[in-house]
This record gives sequence, structure tokens and C-alpha cells, in this order.
Amino acid sequence: MAKTLTVLGLESSCDDTAAAIVRLAPDQSPQILAQVVRGQTQLHADFGGVVPEIAARAHAEKLDICVADVLRSSGLNLGDMDAVAVTAGPGLIGGVISGVMCAKGLSAGAGLPLIGVNHLAGHALTPRLTDQAAYPYLMLLVSGGHCQFLRVDSAQSFTRLGGTIDDAPGEAFDKTARLLGLPQPGGPAVEVEARAGDPTRFAFPRPLLDRPGCDMSFSGLKTALLRTRDAVMAEAGGLTRADRADLCAGFQAAVRDVLAEKTRRALADNPDLQLIAVAGGVAANTAIRDALMQVASAADAQFLAPPLALCTDNAAMIAYAGAELFQLGQRDDLTLTARPRWPLDSTSPAMLGSGRKGAKA
Ligand code: KG4
Ligand code: ZN
Repeated sequence: MAKTLTVLGLESSCDDTAAAIVRLAPDQSPQILAQVVRGQTQLHADFGGVVPEIAARAHAEKLDICVADVLRSSGLNLGDMDAVAVTAGPGLIGGVISGVMCAKGLSAGAGLPLIGVNHLAGHALTPRLTDQAAYPYLMLLVSGGHCQFLRVDSAQSFTRLGGTIDDAPGEAFDKTARLLGLPQPGGPAVEVEARAGDPTRFAFPRPLLDRPGCDMSFSGLKTALLRTRDAVMAEAGGLTRADRADLCAGFQAAVRDVLAEKTRRALADNPDLQLIAVAGGVAANTAIRDALMQVASAADAQFLAPPLALCTDNAAMIAYAGAELFQLGQRDDLTLTARPRWPLDSTSPAMLGSGRKGAKA
């Protein structure tokens, strides 16, 4: 019988510095003993995006503090850990290196096994951390940097069924907000505006629905929004509140329809999958969630959306993935390297679906 595992996890692949301690009981039930996420939004606010050098430096400064925080709040010591798990990619390389170096130091200093975790595997295994989802299941990862369908068969077996061939939906939401003078991050702002809007007033494209498979494209939608906005402004001399709401509603409906239809296909092509789970910031969108729920129910599948704090970047998912990988025998050592690119499914076309922003997973 498996023994209880207690794993310290570190995450620093983009602009959140995070640490967590997760315990996996012999019956495989997981428990988050402590977790902390220190965001860097303020540090990057003046630059309109994440500045890799600033991010890396902040991670290097904050990782130790985060580790001390979770040890203190769990009442445990490093010696109580069975392993240290760390995001070893994909992500902004400076940040990933900060995390890997910190984990190597802890591992060497305390004599703990080191486990390098793919950040995307962390997201993909979250339904097991939150709901003990049974393998296999379908995962839709929709964030500011990623958009892909994964068939998850084990902690080491992922099949990419499709993904965006250009931008991620979160990027498109953020760009839409920028074009309409709404605050960042754009997704929540666009969603609020869309509530008062008419999704049928403007005809936005549903890219790639005419093509088979689960690949998606969102960059044309951004261009369509820009053109439509300019046309309205040219005609009326400006944008009214109602125009803005209608543009948001039309755009959101287009993203929703594409995600829903491609999810329907992913489930139809994989009839043995009885669960679809989502992760990533865009999964917070109620209209998108509702549409996915309907698709799942029509396919007799269960729909699972973990709590938002565990859908976005965090270290509990890294600690949890580390625990499963530990059970499967994975051990890394001081030769573990930080990888800016690291597709989960090595058989799929290289990095399609990463989104142009790429680094943020
Ligand atoms: O997963 P996440 O926090 O960070 C990564 O990209 O890894 O996702 C952030 C993205 C942003 O692009 C944000 O605009 C989008 O998720 N987002 C939303 C909503 N909340 C956050 N998009 C649509 N609707 C929302 N309610
Ligand atoms: Zn992520």
C-alpha cells in the first residue's frame, strides 16, 4: 500500500510566485496543507505586460519567503517533506530558472528528492487534486497564454487533441478590452459589459468551425473586432455605451461558440471520456462555462470547473503533480534543467496552441 506523501511545490513560470504543501494519503485523497501565491501585477503595471527580467528577479526574491510562509502556516519543517516539486517549464525562462534553482537548493540542503513538473501537467491534473477525477478525462486549458484540449490518461500520458493555431482566447479578451478602453485583465471587464449587450447585432466569425478536428483560431476575431469598432466609430463619430456592450457580447458569443463546438467534437471523438474539466482564467467566464456545461450534458459527460484559485497559476497543482510523479517513480537531480518550451504531448506538432504570448501557461 502507498504511504502518505507530503510534497512541497514551487511555481514561478510567469508572474505569480507560489509555494504549497500538498499531502497525498494512502487512499490517494489529496489535501492542501498550505499554499501561498504572490502576484506581481503591480510590478508590471506600467509596462502593459509581463517584463521577463522584472519577473525573474521578483521570483528570486520571493520564493524563499513563500516557502517559509507555507512551512509556518502548515506547522511543518522541510524535514517533514517527502519531496520538492518545481515547475521546470514551460514558461518565462528567468522565472523558471529561479524556481528550479530554489528547489535544487532545498533538495540538496534537506536531502529531499527533486521532481521537475511540467506546468501544463499541473493544470491538467488539477481535477484530481480538487475532485479526485478518475482517469481518463478531457481537459480544456483556456488561459491568457494557452488554449488546448488534452486527453489525460495518467500523470505521464497526455494526448493533445487540438488547440489554437495562433492566439489564446485570454489574449483575445485582453486585446478586445484594450481596443474598447476597458481595464486589464480584459476578460472580466468584457464579460461584465457583454451582460448588457446584444450578441446578435454584429456578425463576428466563428473561425475554423468549417474545418474538422479540434484546432481553433482567435486572432481573426481580434481583427474583426477592430474593424467593426472602427466602422461604428466612423459612422457615428464615437462609441456609445450600448455599442461597446454589443461589441463585447458579439465577441464573447463567438469565442463561446468556438469553444463549445470544439469541445463537442473532442467528446464525440473520444466517447470513453465521461468527464470534461476546464482550467485557466477564461474558464471563469460564466457564458463560456454555461455553454460547456450544456455540451457536456448533451454528451452524457460530467463537467468540472475547479475553484478559480486552483484554475489559475498556483503551486498546489505543482505539488500534487509532483506527488503523482513521485509515486510513478520519477526522481530528478541537480542536472534538472529549466525549459522555456516543453510540450506535454511530444507527439503533437511543436507548440501549436501555445498562443503568441507563449510563455504564460
Ligand atoms: O489562467 P490565467 O489567470 O493566467 C494565464 O494566462 O496563465 O488567465 C488569465 C486570462 C486573461 O487573459 C484574462 O483576461 C482571462 O484569463 N480571463 C477571462 C475572465 N477572467 C479572466 N476571460 C474571459 N472571461 C473572464 N471572466
Ligand atoms: Zn498556467
